[in-house]
Amino acid sequence: MTDPATLDAEALIEHILTRFHEAHRRDLPPLQAQARAAVARGAPPALAEHLDAMAVALEQHQFKEEMRLFPMMEQGGNTLMGHLIDDLEAEHRLHEDAMAALHEVLAGWPDDGADAQALRAGLGRLFADLAAHVQLEDEVLFPRFSAGGRRRT
Ligand SMILES: [Fe+2]
Ligand SMILES: [Fe+2]
Repeated sequence: MTDPATLDAEALIEHILTRFHEAHRRDLPPLQAQARAAVARGAPPALAEHLDAMAVALEQHQFKEEMRLFPMMEQGGNTLMGHLIDDLEAEHRLHEDAMAALHEVLAGWPDDGADAQALRAGLGRLFADLAAHVQLEDEVLFPRFSAGGRRRT
């Protein structure tokens, strides 16, 4: 696969949308259902609560990128983008905190039956995807536009 870092902004945004935004929207609802089922079988309620809260925060974040940030980037950037990028980067740190909190809940949950293993594996894939998503935006996409709103590459 082409290294996403070599893509121009428009192609990179398209890659992020299909590889990450759509993937999270597809993967989260069944995981949330599995987490709720696990809670019904005795898993800590925080498992479903944290995951549901993370899903809501992530959807709001992605919506903000899709409706505000990405269109600005596709038009070449503008002077108002710096604050928006700062906000979105701060939200990335909150996604990381949410994943860390979920990791902790999972670590303290002794169930390793088949359903619990499936949920752990699914969450592991989601966390890996979300970490890669955040890293690509923080380290590749955002820096191209964060020098005073001016396009650097
Ligand atoms: Fe994103
Ligand atoms: Fe993001």
